[in-house]
Amino acid sequence: MRNETIGSVMITQEQINDRAAEIARQIERDFQGQEVILVGILKGAVMWMVDIMKNLKLDVRIDFMAVSSYGSSTKSSGIVKIVKDLDTDIKGQNVIIVEDIVDSGTTLKYLRQYFENRKARTVKICTLLDKPEGRKTDVEVDYSGFTVDDRFIVGYGLDYDQKYRNLPYVTYLEAAADEQTENR
Ligand code: IMP
Ligand code: MG
Repeated sequence: MRNETIGSVMITQEQINDRAAEIARQIERDFQGQEVILVGILKGAVMWMVDIMKNLKLDVRIDFMAVSSYGSSTKSSGIVKIVKDLDTDIKGQNVIIVEDIVDSGTTLKYLRQYFENRKARTVKICTLLDKPEGRKTDVEVDYSGFTVDDRFIVGYGLDYDQKYRNLPYVTYLEAAADEQTENR
């Protein structure tokens, strides 16, 4: 897609910050007196990861993974590949996966299984956005910031072709029809 344009602001930074604080309170209630390890999924989760971690009043450690299931198009390939693995041994740990968006659910279903295989004590999922209409596989989302409709979302960490991650709000891509023409 060339000359793509972005739509109007869907979710503001202030709304996201407020929601992060609410979710942090929920996590604190669920893990009172315990340690948690937040695993941010690069690169999309960076802004949301910061919001969650700075709001948490618990013993927190962090790590990052990079997985890819998307090329530069707006549709998932359905195949998950680990591009950067954990630095930490998460055996016996309370893992909270911090993700930008749950769409088909493929990535998180894979990651949840991955952490369970590595004998995490608990595995929870904390996503900024949930796009339920995109779901192709069942995945339980424990903490969800906002539900969005079936559009291609950018901003606040989310990209289109590695662009728009820096926008301090959530918006969507317009002119998606151009891309389908180009891919033919
Ligand atoms: P899933 O495996 O289909 O649930 O997709 C998960 C990943 O695809 C997310 O972590 C995002 O990186 C990417 N993704 C899914 N939907 C969108 C979107 O609307 N905008 C940007 N990235 C998306
Ligand atoms: Mg992602």
